[in-house]
Amino acid sequence: MRTQVAIIGSGPAGLLLGALLANAGIDAIIIERKSRDYVLSRIRAGVLEQGTVDLLRSVGVGHRLDAEGMAHDGFALAYEGRTLRIDLKTLTGGRRVTVYGQTEVTRDLMDARAAAGLTTIYEAENVAVHDFDTGHPRLTYVADGVTQELHCDFIAGCDGFHGISRASVPAAAITLFERVYPFGWLGILADVPPCDHELIYASHDRGFALCTMRSTTRSRYYIQCRAGEQPGDWSDAAFWDELRRRLPPEVAARVTTGPSIEKSVAPLRSFVAEPLRFGRLFLAGDAAHIVPPTGAKGLNLAAGDAFYLASALTEYYGEKSLAGINHYSARALDRIWKAERFSWWMTTLMHRFDHHSTFEQRMQVAEFDFLRSSTAAQTAVAENYVGLPLV
Ligand code: APR
Ligand code: PHB
Repeated sequence: MRTQVAIIGSGPAGLLLGALLANAGIDAIIIERKSRDYVLSRIRAGVLEQGTVDLLRSVGVGHRLDAEGMAHDGFALAYEGRTLRIDLKTLTGGRRVTVYGQTEVTRDLMDARAAAGLTTIYEAENVAVHDFDTGHPRLTYVADGVTQELHCDFIAGCDGFHGISRASVPAAAITLFERVYPFGWLGILADVPPCDHELIYASHDRGFALCTMRSTTRSRYYIQCRAGEQPGDWSDAAFWDELRRRLPPEVAARVTTGPSIEKSVAPLRSFVAEPLRFGRLFLAGDAAHIVPPTGAKGLNLAAGDAFYLASALTEYYGEKSLAGINHYSARALDRIWKAERFSWWMTTLMHRFDHHSTFEQRMQVAEFDFLRSSTAAQTAVAENYVGLPLV
């Protein structure tokens, strides 16, 4: 088999890249290790920057997003029981975010891909990349017990943090930057109305908590938990009690509890690989970088990478120019590092760190007091939260 671009992974990065390439008339095949249903069973964040919404619309998957997505003009930070609203719309000259689950983004992109007759091979085993340092890269994989070969011009490694693309690069050719946080987020999904129409990020002596949502009838809540804790360690009742303890009393009083329909623990990590291009292999999305979920940048960064890579490949096929391809890594990394900084800053501000001294605790309080008193500081938060421009 042959295609122009072989994409590994059908998460948001691979699917959006496939859609943008199809828009540009470039042929791509997606090879995914899991089943479609498995990919759609993963619950992830749900805040889309305007640039991500625009990209999704540009590939024809804006309908459900426009109908069901919830536009948010602000969000709240709560600290020691006091709440500060970040007025995104006023502070950024009218920009806002859209709350729409990543699972729904993935579903819309998969449906559009299937409707357009574009090929995705699910449940491919033993996916391996070959010869990406030559002009003739290829992939091999096993489907229904038979080894297959996919010849291509380029390979896009969109296979997430644990994928094979990054792992196939010689260690000497890649530099990894990493911070693992000494805690995780325990999240639950429940069919109860959200406690507020906007998101609330709360810092408390007992740890961080986040109130978010999927719709007016479905809530998503998170609490900071110890690294290594299991979802089964927490009953629903224990979760709701702990959540309410960490929220300002007037917010806690508005929390509607109910049975969880999903409960999971996510570790928190900051991670960047450099560079993102190795001959004819590119990395994009979680394969290239991870942000902690504070600030909801993961999916938006994946969308940015897909945009930059699709632009570079479109330039290559249209104008026979290598300029875009040569520039992809630097262009994407510039935006990635800024989002890493913001996610790290917000994580550091809002969480309890066991190793923090009283000095560091007071620094958190001072940071928050400054934020409360300075429109300039709030503007910087708002500018990052709505998303830095895709330049
Ligand atoms: N072969 C083929 N596919 C693979 C392989 C492999 N060896 N390894 C992983 N995959 C697939 C996974 O099954 C998954 O469907 O690659 C896909 C990667 O998808 P994501 O993990 O969703 O990563 P990405 O598309 O980069 O999306 C980033 O996801 O984790 C969140 O916060 C993150 O929102 C961000 C988004
Ligand atoms: C979510 O809705 O799951 C969510 C929202 C904001 C975050 C992280 C997760 O910062």
